[in-house]
Amino acid sequence: MEIRKLFQAFCLIICSIHFLLYFPLTAVAKQTNLLPPGYAIASANPLATNAGLEILSQGGNAFDAAVAVSAVLAVVEPYHSGLGGGGFWLLHQEKEHKNIFIDGRETAPLAAKEDMFLASDGRLIPELSLNGGLAAAIPGEPAALVYIAKNYGRLPLTKTLAPAIKLAEEGFLVDKQLSSFLKNKDRLEQIRKYPSTAKIFLNKGQPFQIGERFIQKDLANTLKLLAMKENQGFYAGEVAQRLVKGVNAAGGIWTLEDLARYRIKVREPLIGAFHNMLIITSPPPSAGGIALLTMLNILSHYPLSSYSKIQWIHYLAESMRLAYWQRERFLGDPDFISIPVERLLSAENGKQLSSLIPAHKALPSDVLRGKVKQKTLKPAHSSNTTHFSIIDGEGNRVSATMSINYIFGSSVVAEGTGVLLNDQMDDFATKPGEENVFGLVGGNKNAIAPGKRPLSSMTPTFLELPDRVAILGTPGGSRIPTMILIASLVFHDTYGAISMVSSMRFHHQYLPDVLQFEPDTFSPAIQDALKNMGYHLLPLKRYYGDMQAITWDKSTNMLTAASDPRAIGLAAAIVSTPSGYGHGAQF
Ligand code: GLY
Repeated sequence: MEIRKLFQAFCLIICSIHFLLYFPLTAVAKQTNLLPPGYAIASANPLATNAGLEILSQGGNAFDAAVAVSAVLAVVEPYHSGLGGGGFWLLHQEKEHKNIFIDGRETAPLAAKEDMFLASDGRLIPELSLNGGLAAAIPGEPAALVYIAKNYGRLPLTKTLAPAIKLAEEGFLVDKQLSSFLKNKDRLEQIRKYPSTAKIFLNKGQPFQIGERFIQKDLANTLKLLAMKENQGFYAGEVAQRLVKGVNAAGGIWTLEDLARYRIKVREPLIGAFHNMLIITSPPPSAGGIALLTMLNILSHYPLSSYSKIQWIHYLAESMRLAYWQRERFLGDPDFISIPVERLLSAENGKQLSSLIPAHKALPSDVLRGKVKQKTLKPAHSSNTTHFSIIDGEGNRVSATMSINYIFGSSVVAEGTGVLLNDQMDDFATKPGEENVFGLVGGNKNAIAPGKRPLSSMTPTFLELPDRVAILGTPGGSRIPTMILIASLVFHDTYGAISMVSSMRFHHQYLPDVLQFEPDTFSPAIQDALKNMGYHLLPLKRYYGDMQAITWDKSTNMLTAASDPRAIGLAAAIVSTPSGYGHGAQF
């Protein structure tokens, strides 16, 4: 039996005592020699999925396709991610049996200060970290794409960025998502404030309509410079000068040194186990991986499959509450603070946390925190960020989540660059103890400091069962980790990609102390039962998330790719037939 199978058998035995293990298993997670029957991509936009498929059909690997898909998403969903933002790319090299986490998260400018979003009386001014130049952190996506292309791809950037350049230069037809985000009153007002932004996103002063052609010539030129000069095309020279000038004219504090000093970080992914399932996920500065493993650690103490629906919801909701409680107290940028990762993910911690959960009632958040003011019951915003998943014919995988934070980020485009800048500074604890745009209450560990990365919820993840593999992730702000939790449990319960992206969603994040749920998720009887248990319910009017998942069943050698039915993405699995590649399935 090979090492990975042995490990999983070992987990099965050990997990009955210590259900969740944490240690870097990158080298241990050895794969079988079986190769996928083809390749698959699931992304939030059909144009991005098609660009990735084109690169794979030209002989590129999953990492080349990842560069192409990231760049096309930057062009066709500029309101979600882009060169002005950052992200996390989780890579798996099949031959090398290696998992790698590329942290292309933005950093605070060197002139940033802990109290930069506070008025002189100490009051938080929330708009400052959401809109305008001060909200923008130093982008990481361009450097991440260059690094992935140079270290893992086999095609030059001139080839992998070509689809994005073409779509920016020649334009594409506005889809319903771009059109509806452009009609958002608050965002439209911000876009109108900056002529360099309005010039791109408005058509004769009005939002573009569905079917109109949307062209971004300046962005095409910036992408060309990146393709030709790599980091020097973005972090130095003309583009860098324009970025600094544009951000500072909009109230920012950037310098050329900020851009010149930006570096991606290559980190060790977190690896844990839930019964016989390995979870390979995002380390800090993502809070998502630790939250996911903590929730699974807690849940491994309960026989979930034998539970009634109400018990199942109760234990999931409480595991969510406890994981987000831990987030506030311990998490931040690991290069600036020390995070007791091993202790947080230990079986002992899982046991202690699970012992806090009452069997038949909710655990009020104020018991955990001391008396807290009940926060507003407003649903957190979640229309932001994007995700894609890829597997190639050699078994290499990519799970990537990218963001400019809130829709249209800071709304600032530096004149002549076409680059819409992020408002990722809002992901810091702008005033510890206060809520951010996702309703998350930040702790001191995530306070602002020059060069520091803000804590993120982005959670690109791989799951491995003895005979099945999953690649998954989603946008959705603070709700990302709980969506990944539910999808992981669905996968563990033998279901595949289609069930993972379409299953019901509910969310608890400790503060505010409310259990949010999508329309039609809880029946009136379940809602009554939850209320009787002490839950404050928040029925949402809209669905959330946009999960992109791929599953590879090694026992049947079947690839399935699925894109969340809640949005406009496209998943495609192209499998080989005896006469060559050709049989495709799209969802
Ligand atoms: N800006 C969203 C996140 O990183 O969680």
